[in-house]
Amino acid sequence: MADDTTPGPTRVLVFGASLRGDSLNARLAALVARLIRGTGAEADLARMDEFAMPVYDGDAETAEGIPAGALALRDRLAGADALVIASPEYNASLPGGLKNAVDWVSRVRPQPFKDKQALLVSASPSMVGGNRGLWALRIPLEHLGARVYPDMFSLAKAHEGFTEAGDLTDPALQQRLTESVAAFLQLVEADTRYVCLQRRWYEFLGDCTDAPVTQRAQD
Ligand SMILES: Cc1cc2nc3c(=O)[nH]c(=O)nc-3n(C[C@H](O)[C@H](O)[C@H](O)COP(=O)(O)O)c2cc1C
Repeated sequence: MADDTTPGPTRVLVFGASLRGDSLNARLAALVARLIRGTGAEADLARMDEFAMPVYDGDAETAEGIPAGALALRDRLAGADALVIASPEYNASLPGGLKNAVDWVSRVRPQPFKDKQALLVSASPSMVGGNRGLWALRIPLEHLGARVYPDMFSLAKAHEGFTEAGDLTDPALQQRLTESVAAFLQLVEADTRYVCLQRRWYEFLGDCTDAPVTQRAQD
């Protein structure tokens, strides 16, 4: 029987990182959200255009603080046990807008990406499926202490990859994505409910977190 100590369902923020109205990555994010809900977990589906923010500028941060869009994204992240990002690949890397959002959100304390489990997926009309962009996206996320899931999912030829109902046209890929999402959620559940390790994250050895010169760091 449920009581106050019974954990609720796992909550996942599923973030479509394209601003484009007819984004293939938004479609992939919607499918992942549906697969998450199918397991009994909760999915909070978000899009980049919900979080307007200027290009990062340290002077603007000093004068005006962190913009409302970045704080709103931080709030959605803080309300989730885990994060899925569906990101386009631009020039073999992550989109500048997504990196900018990560940079702004990383300025909040406590640093919101730290210890978050993250699953990365991508969709692209190319044969690469946007996979190189995900490798680039791992770098800032892992730097910030996110636990980026080893498996990633990249949908090649994504412009012909979805059915009318929003599933993948290739049943084998649909199966693979379903299994990856389920495995990721099992890890999230284990990590958030049965955590037994104290984690510490330092930017470099000898890091002193309250010194202004190392204010990117947090333990
Ligand atoms: C500036 C720019 C660079 C791009 N570079 C790549 C690339 O390196 N690899 C790739 O697969 N697609 C690339 N594309 C194509 C995108 O994958 C494609 O536009 C995709 O639909 C964008 O994702 P979205 O549909 O979610 O907006 C690029 C598109 C733009 C606008």
